[in-house]
Amino acid sequence: MKSPESPKSVGRQESGAARAESRRVDLRKAINAVSDVVQNRPRPLRVFDQIHMKTGDMVLQSEMIADWADGKRLAFIGDGDAISVCVAYLHAREVLTFGPSLITVFDFDERTVEAVKNFADREGITKLDAQLYNVLDAFPEMGRFDCFYTNPPWGASNNGESVNVFVERGIEATGHMGEGVVVIADDDELDWPKQVLANVQGFAAGHGFYVSRMQRKIHEYHLDDAPELRSCNLYLAALPDNRVPASSVPITDAQRLENFYGLSQNPRVRYVLARRRLDYGVAHEDEYELEYLEDDD
Ligand SMILES: C[S@@+](CC[C@H](N)C(=O)[O-])C[C@H]1O[C@@H](n2cnc3c(N)ncnc32)[C@H](O)[C@@H]1O
Repeated sequence: MKSPESPKSVGRQESGAARAESRRVDLRKAINAVSDVVQNRPRPLRVFDQIHMKTGDMVLQSEMIADWADGKRLAFIGDGDAISVCVAYLHAREVLTFGPSLITVFDFDERTVEAVKNFADREGITKLDAQLYNVLDAFPEMGRFDCFYTNPPWGASNNGESVNVFVERGIEATGHMGEGVVVIADDDELDWPKQVLANVQGFAAGHGFYVSRMQRKIHEYHLDDAPELRSCNLYLAALPDNRVPASSVPITDAQRLENFYGLSQNPRVRYVLARRRLDYGVAHEDEYELEYLEDDD
């Protein structure tokens, strides 16, 4: 497998056949590795806009992100999809010969944080970590990362303001001097994704970032009420000498948070806490009961 849209492979064609060969990927191994990750992923909570990307798209996305962030420190601002884990695991298993040097996931869902940490522990992936964090709070590790990735709530009911909140934290993660990938809705038939794309690009420009690339309509989701809706990769990069604010501050402006997770769904929750540790790959006891053979008597 080699993604035709891979940013570095497009930008560095001069390295030619040798580079292409070193980046060749065994598709079967890649799909099976991503399947291991999907088994370990907590189920999505629709009320917080957790909607999982389809598995085939996760494989391609992981390869593209590993290539884009090769050798860099990468922050995930939210990651219910577990692209972070796929990227780290594919590299650790040598399915990919490239990948980030450090990956940290910042998510307000403790189930996600624990799933990332447990997977990293079990597979001995030391460069993968996760922290419980709500994007409404000041960002704790400003400037520690070279790049960020976010697949945020898509802001259909607030003109993309929820996307901007996640992008703002991503920009802070890079100390306003790095690059980012924002995964958001992309659809030619609907109006709101276009409004959101325009608003997010304007927000990024206001923070000294420009759009360096866009890969359109490349992901599909397990979204029952809009199965056709796709998303794009919007690549952002800091302008040279971008100004760096001294600190990160909490987001308290109520207007900015209106309809954050959808119509009338303003944020009221700091963290989603895990009740008990689940093995997501097997059926849970409360999903079924057993009727025994002798019950027939
Ligand atoms: C909102 S979902 C978007 C859909 C995406 N396909 C996914 O499921 O990851 C992205 C991630 O953001 C996290 N998230 C939602 N609200 C958050 C908040 N206020 N602070 C930090 N993370 C948040 C979710 O837990 C989820 O993992």
